[in-house]
Amino acid sequence: MNQTHLPGTELPLSEFTARRERFFTSMPENSMALFPAAIELTRSNDTEYPFCQNKNFFYLTGFPEPDAVLVLIKEKTNRVVLFSRAKDALQEVWHGRRVGQELAVSAYGVDECFTLDKQDEFIPEYMADKSNLLYCIGAAESVSESFEIKVLSWLKAVKAKSRLGKKAPTNIIDCSNIIHEMRLIKSEAELELMRKINKISGVAHQRAMKQSTVGKFEYQIEADILHEFASNGAKSPAYATIVAGGDNGNILHYTENSDTLKNNELLLIDAGGELAGYAADITRTFPINGVFTNEQKAIYQLVLDAQLISIQSIKPKSTLAHLNKIACGFLTEGLHNLGILKGDLSTLIKEKACKKYFIHGLGHWLGLDVHDVGDYKSNDKREQTREFEPGMVMTIEPGLYIPLDDISVEEKWRGIAVRIEDNIVVTETGYENLTVNAPKEIVQIEALMANS
Ligand code: GLY
Ligand code: MN
Ligand code: MN
Repeated sequence: MNQTHLPGTELPLSEFTARRERFFTSMPENSMALFPAAIELTRSNDTEYPFCQNKNFFYLTGFPEPDAVLVLIKEKTNRVVLFSRAKDALQEVWHGRRVGQELAVSAYGVDECFTLDKQDEFIPEYMADKSNLLYCIGAAESVSESFEIKVLSWLKAVKAKSRLGKKAPTNIIDCSNIIHEMRLIKSEAELELMRKINKISGVAHQRAMKQSTVGKFEYQIEADILHEFASNGAKSPAYATIVAGGDNGNILHYTENSDTLKNNELLLIDAGGELAGYAADITRTFPINGVFTNEQKAIYQLVLDAQLISIQSIKPKSTLAHLNKIACGFLTEGLHNLGILKGDLSTLIKEKACKKYFIHGLGHWLGLDVHDVGDYKSNDKREQTREFEPGMVMTIEPGLYIPLDDISVEEKWRGIAVRIEDNIVVTETGYENLTVNAPKEIVQIEALMANS
C-alpha cells in the first residue's frame, strides 16, 4: 500500500483507490460513471475566483486540476480513466504546472489518462453497449450545466452509430445519492483531518477574541482570522468569514464585515478554515470590550446551555429531529423565564415559540462541503429523522437573534445576536466534540480577553 500523501490532499493514495472501489460495488453491471472536475470561474475581465475543486471529483481522485473528467467503467474488470489538461510549456509558465498524463497514472493511481481533446472520441466509445450511465444529474455545482450538455452530446454520438450496431445506455442513473452517502460517513483519516482543521480554526477564534477592540473594523478581525488559518497550514477559509458586530449578527449570512466595532456590543464570528478540502464551521459570540452586559449574559448562557444539552444527546440512532425538540423546548422555556416570550409555557413549547428568535436549523452535516451532502430524511412535518451513525459529522449551532427594530421586546434586549457552533462526530458510544479549543464558557472568554 502506498502511504505517501497525494499532493494537496494529506491522504494516502490508498484512501482514494478504496473510495473508487467502494463506488464500483454500488454500480450496476455493465455500466459507466462520469464525474467532472470543477471549472475556473471568471471574477472580472481576465481574473478568476480562487479555484475550488468539485468535491465529488476530489473525493474520488484527489486530482487538483480544473476541466478533468473521471470515468469509471464497470465491465468484466473495473477500469478507471481520467481525462486531463495536456502538458503545455507556455501555459505552465503563465498559469502554473500541470500534472500531465504520465504522472496522473503513476501518482493518482488511475489505469489510463488521456488529454482533454480525446474526450469526445473516447467517451462515446466507452458508452457504446453499456446498459447504464451514472452521473450526478442536476448538481448545484457551476460545472453541472455545461457538463450535462457534454453528456448529451456523447450520448448522441453513440446513437449516431446505431446503424453500426452500437447501442447507447438506456438507463441514465443519478448517482448523487451513492456518492453523497459515502461522503457522509467519514473514515478515521478524514476525521483526523477534521480534528486538525478544527484545532486551527479554534486558535483563530482565540486570536479574534484577543484582537477585539472598540473602533477596529470587522474586516480587520477577519484578517486576523485568515492570518491564523494560513499560519497553521490552512490556506483558505471553508466559506466566507462572518464577522458581525452588534445588530449585524442578526443578518445570518452577513459577510460585508465593513462596520466598526462598538462598545457594549457583541461580536458574532462564524469562521472555519479548510484543510486538504475539509471544512471546519465554528461560531463564537463575545463582547467586543471583553465583558458581557447582564442582558448579553442571559441570552448567551441560554444559547450555550441549549447547545450543551443538544450535544449531550448525540449518539447512534439519535436524530436531528430529536435534538431540535430538546433545544427548542429549552430555548422556549428560557425565553419565557426572561419575559421575552409571554403566555402559557406549555402552549409556547407546543407551538415552538422560540422559532421567532431561533430562525435557522440546529445543525447540518459537515465534511468536504461546509453544508455537507447526505440525506436528512425529512418526514411530513419537515423534521430531520435520519438516524445518526458512527462517522457522521455535524454542526450543533443554536442561536437567538433579537433585531434592533423588534419593538415587541423590551429595549434592553434589542440588537443582541448570539450563535454558538461546534463540530461533532458521532462515535460508537456517543460523540466526540472536535471544537476543543475555541472558548465558549463566559468565564473563559472574559478571562482570555482580560489578559490580552
Ligand atoms: N457557516 C454557515 C453555517 O453555520 O451554517
Ligand atoms: Mn453551520
Ligand atoms: Mn457556521
